[in-house]
Amino acid sequence: MNRKPKPKIDNEIQSLLQPLTSEEKEALRADVEVNGVLQAIVLDEEGTILDGHHRFAIDPKCRTIVKRGLSRGEKLAYTIRANLTRRNLTQSQKQELKVKQKEIAKKLSEENRTQTEIAQLLGVTQQAVSKWFTPNTTSCNKRNDKPHSNTKVNASGRKEALERSEAGESQQQIAADLGVSQQQASKIIAQEKKKEQKKKQLEKAAEEAKKNAKRSKVKWTVIEGDCLEVLQQYASGKAPFGSDWDWAKCIIADPPYNESLEYGNGHNDSLSDRQYLKWVEQWVSLCFDCVGNEGALWLVISDTYAHHYRLIGERAGWQFQNWVIWHETFGVQRELKFARNHRHLLHFTAGQPFWNADAARVPSARQTKYNDPRANPDGKVMGNVWDDIPRLTGNAKERLPGMTQLPEKLVSRMIEITCPAGGLVIDPFSGSGTTGKVSVESARPFIGIEQNAERAELSRGRIGV
Ligand SMILES: C[S@@+](CC[C@H](N)C(=O)[O-])C[C@H]1O[C@@H](n2cnc3c(N)ncnc32)[C@H](O)[C@@H]1O
Repeated sequence: MNRKPKPKIDNEIQSLLQPLTSEEKEALRADVEVNGVLQAIVLDEEGTILDGHHRFAIDPKCRTIVKRGLSRGEKLAYTIRANLTRRNLTQSQKQELKVKQKEIAKKLSEENRTQTEIAQLLGVTQQAVSKWFTPNTTSCNKRNDKPHSNTKVNASGRKEALERSEAGESQQQIAADLGVSQQQASKIIAQEKKKEQKKKQLEKAAEEAKKNAKRSKVKWTVIEGDCLEVLQQYASGKAPFGSDWDWAKCIIADPPYNESLEYGNGHNDSLSDRQYLKWVEQWVSLCFDCVGNEGALWLVISDTYAHHYRLIGERAGWQFQNWVIWHETFGVQRELKFARNHRHLLHFTAGQPFWNADAARVPSARQTKYNDPRANPDGKVMGNVWDDIPRLTGNAKERLPGMTQLPEKLVSRMIEITCPAGGLVIDPFSGSGTTGKVSVESARPFIGIEQNAERAELSRGRIGV
């Protein structure tokens, strides 16, 4: 990992910016004078500013973070996306940016990105992208001219199409049976083949990573220290990290919730809202510095600050993806309040998101209840309320005394779905080492940070067995 480069301007990237009005400029300047630049500016590895031109113009010494490994198209997409989140854009400015989005989509397509990837990079729907790439067709006049291409083929039909094609049946016959054009049948078969290949690749990579782990032992460390300092050291490649650690692929953060708990490490868990949130902003932003071109962040938090966490994540440059409610099944009894029996799991990504849908699948009601032949044999992707993992009771097998500990199954789910096989996992608040244990057991390298010496030791013991 190299040191951070000096900020510089690239004309094509700058041309994607819409100028600020003089009022907006003044408001920004006044805000910077009072609060400083809260949101770091984002550079690529050569120092080109991708986001934060206006902040940089006001305070050229403000904090910077570096996004590495982006292609030209990805850089343009990143900038336009950040620019489109500005609240005060006029209709015509938005329109202008939309035209530019299309041009960037073309560039990304030339870089062999799929339409799904392009949609994700630009933060638009897949339908929008698909429209950009579909040539205008003249409408059919006769009712019977209606092409087959609108016919929907369900998941099991698609699977069957692939199986039949692999068994040597003609595409013409398969298309006729499915009631689609031959072209559509061939597309379905190709897509299913690709899906199968990807699934096999993932399984192979996981197997491979496990084998390697057995052979060479997975690399892991738990550092006793303050997460702000250690994340900063890691992001800038300083000792004890240097260049032999890769960029993180997944960060799981279950921080102190500012609920007056005693962590036994000098951490003050009774800060004012302002102080607490400022601290959260710092480490969430540092987490962003720790990922390369593909990374996920999970923030685990209770009700009080959940909505702030979402905004803080986005302001730090993360792309918000999922808001999961973890229903802990039973909760804390409180006066004048309902029992608190859920927590929030906020999932963000940076750069190219990783998503292993197969790890997120559960049997569908079509399969288990209705015995419906249309059911996807692989099940359905689970919903965003997780109610199948209870919080750890005092006598739970994995429970350690005196810990506010997450269940291994919960952490494992987050990792399996959003972290590629062999990808480095970081936990800035390691606690008892749940994330470390789960990561290393699934052959993923791990860095844990824990301020409390005893807990750091506990983490090590738990991961090392
Ligand atoms: C909610 S617990 C994490 C529990 C963990 N998820 C587990 O399953 O064991 C938060 C942890 O963060 C640690 N901590 C608090 N402030 C810290 C800081 N500034 N840097 C690093 N660790 C800190 C606390 O000591 C505590 O162990």
